[in-house]
Amino acid sequence: MIGYSGAGKSTLIRMVNALETPTSGNVWVEEKDIGTLNQKELRNLRKGIGMIFQQFNLLESKTIYDNVAIALKLNGVSKKDMEKRVTELLDFVELSDKKYSYPGQLSGGQKQRVGIARALANNPSILLCDEATSALDPKTTDSILELLKKINEMLHITIVIITHEMNVIQKICNKVAVMDYGQVVETGSVIQVFSNPQSDIARRFVGNLIRDVIPEPLVESIRRETRNSRLLRIKLENTDSTEPLLWEINRRFEVETNILYSTINVIQGIVVGIMLVLFIGTDEEIEKAEQYILESKEEYREVTLP
Ligand SMILES: Nc1ncnc2c1ncn2[C@@H]1O[C@H](COP(=O)(O)OP(=O)(O)OP(=O)(O)O)[C@@H](O)[C@H]1O
Ligand SMILES: [Mg+2]
Repeated sequence: MIGYSGAGKSTLIRMVNALETPTSGNVWVEEKDIGTLNQKELRNLRKGIGMIFQQFNLLESKTIYDNVAIALKLNGVSKKDMEKRVTELLDFVELSDKKYSYPGQLSGGQKQRVGIARALANNPSILLCDEATSALDPKTTDSILELLKKINEMLHITIVIITHEMNVIQKICNKVAVMDYGQVVETGSVIQVFSNPQSDIARRFVGNLIRDVIPEPLVESIRRETRNSRLLRIKLENTDSTEPLLWEINRRFEVETNILYSTINVIQGIVVGIMLVLFIGTDEEIEKAEQYILESKEEYREVTLP
């Protein structure tokens, strides 16, 4: 989930574990309408949902061991089982040697690892992360994202991430929802939304990553082009190069192609290339080239100058 400050991201995520109740509408979690649950059922729901935060929310006066053990203690787990589970969790987040340290002695990344271990204590099926990497430097962010990926793939836990960092979404998310003024304005697969954002707000977020606004000096030179031309935005998926397509087009048709802008991004392990190309030639030849792009199973759309 992505959106500017105050968009309602935290409010939405807090509805998933019923910390917040909507004034209208229903919230469905794992096929249950959670508005109909009684107190006991709500406790069970919350047991199955872990949460981590930007400020880690650790108890400073307790050891790392005790911080992780808290959730188990509250659920009446025996001392022996608790010891086994906490050891297992600290091992999983690679903090076995910090068992008896205090939060004050740990770095931000290590503190977040403790937060993650604590959130996993009761074997949840969902993990909610509210800006979990926002207080961390880029390298530490990457290591936490790696850990979240491992949690998702090895433990089969669904992870809901709130962030304002596009690279977090690009690295580990499959689906994205864009929020603005308390509403979800756009949803889709990360590839869909990143390569073809529909709402203004999504375009603004994606624009920082995939810039496809034509720089002003280029707009001027396109305007000066007196020959017949058409400006196309072509999206290539799963490509290792943008060249073969244009090379083929130049070889087959009577058109000149000028690449004005080109970018390659890896989203969810898939290479996505976007380029703005000015096609110069007769309408007939340009249309043949367009047809060829479609036959190559790539997407394109015509761009009109501002
Ligand atoms: N759909 C909504 N209906 C009513 N109030 C809302 C709605 N969405 C957000 N709000 C209110 O807007 C305020 C900001 O929401 P929230 O804290 O969820 O934003 P956020 O996106 O998490 O911001 P930040 O990035 O700063 O953490 C809160 O007071 C919240 O109650
Ligand atoms: Mg928030």
